[in-house]
Amino acid sequence: MRVLGIESSCDETAAALVTDRGEVLADVVASQIATHSPYGGIVPELASRAHMQAVIPVIRKALGATPEGLDGVDAIAVTQGPGLIGSLLVGVQVAKALAWSLDKPLVGVNHLDGHLFAVYLQRPDRDHRPTPEMPYVGLLVSGGHTALYRVESFDDIALLAQTRDDAAGEAFDKAAKLLGLGYPGGPIVDKLAAKGDAGAVAFPMPMASRKVLDFSFSGLKTALARYVQTEGIPETEQALADVCASFQGVIVESLVRKSLVACEQEGLDQLVITGGVAANRGLRARAQEACDERGIRLFIPPPISCTDNAAMIAMAAARRLAAGERDDLSFAVYSRDPERRRGKFRRDGTLVERKPDVR
Ligand code: KG4
Ligand code: ZN
Repeated sequence: MRVLGIESSCDETAAALVTDRGEVLADVVASQIATHSPYGGIVPELASRAHMQAVIPVIRKALGATPEGLDGVDAIAVTQGPGLIGSLLVGVQVAKALAWSLDKPLVGVNHLDGHLFAVYLQRPDRDHRPTPEMPYVGLLVSGGHTALYRVESFDDIALLAQTRDDAAGEAFDKAAKLLGLGYPGGPIVDKLAAKGDAGAVAFPMPMASRKVLDFSFSGLKTALARYVQTEGIPETEQALADVCASFQGVIVESLVRKSLVACEQEGLDQLVITGGVAANRGLRARAQEACDERGIRLFIPPPISCTDNAAMIAMAAARRLAAGERDDLSFAVYSRDPERRRGKFRRDGTLVERKPDVR
């Protein structure tokens, strides 16, 4: 079975063709970085307009990767939320129109599920990647979300902890803005940090207690703002690299430490890290080192599967579609995660009781 995936939740318009075994046949992403960078962040109205302009050419390009084109599509998957409403609507309306006119099954996908299951994608230009067996601990780090999950199955995902304020990607983006580096900040800080000394500036470690699984990054952002206020923006490239390395080092350490505690508490020895921030080289290297020390198997998709793409949306839907399921064409988009990941948690974030998915 071949699934056409469509993603338009934020600032990337994407379409992909993926088999139900996760083989990526086509993967097209049109980025809106040039549209938003003059504003230092995403402007929702501009995002919707750019999606409208890009969506058909992007789908055409993805379909053009196989000789069968549209005839080879067995089902359609589209991001239903969370994300920007105007942006989501563009992808969803096109997906509904395609499904209706072709009489093909359509399912709406939670964007966060897409990130969590991107680990099962197999790209033809790469060696076959080992994949985790469920259950595993999933650390999802993106521009809008930072959370730890216990992934029991495709339908049973329990939230263990999340950020109490900013997401990790948001912290990277805000740091870059404070340092006058441009947008999106993650890749720019990542590149500079590689040349810097992480011990140069002592930023505070957030939520340092092992008992608390939740994350928090707004205090770190404030510490950087204060640093810039008193010291000014570093003038030499080396000094700038040192600040980036110190800032990134704290985020990475916090993410890795909490993930390891989650593995320990859940009694699981497999960790998946995914979402845009999982493209960060410092995080990838530190997580590998820490997991090797503790005998935990680490799975991080290649960067192209970590940042927003439509292949992960098709992947997350493939199992439902292969089982013959389809959504009613009247389904609505949602801006916030509708608490599908339900569970009962202690105050320190540990799981008391998991409730099955309600879908
Ligand atoms: O998953 P994603 O593409 O979109 C959302 O669902 O939010 O994540 C985007 C976020 C942005 O905040 C971006 O700055 C960050 O991921 N990001 C990175 C890197 N590449 C993207 N953060 C740190 N290092 C990177 N290399
Ligand atoms: Zn995302």
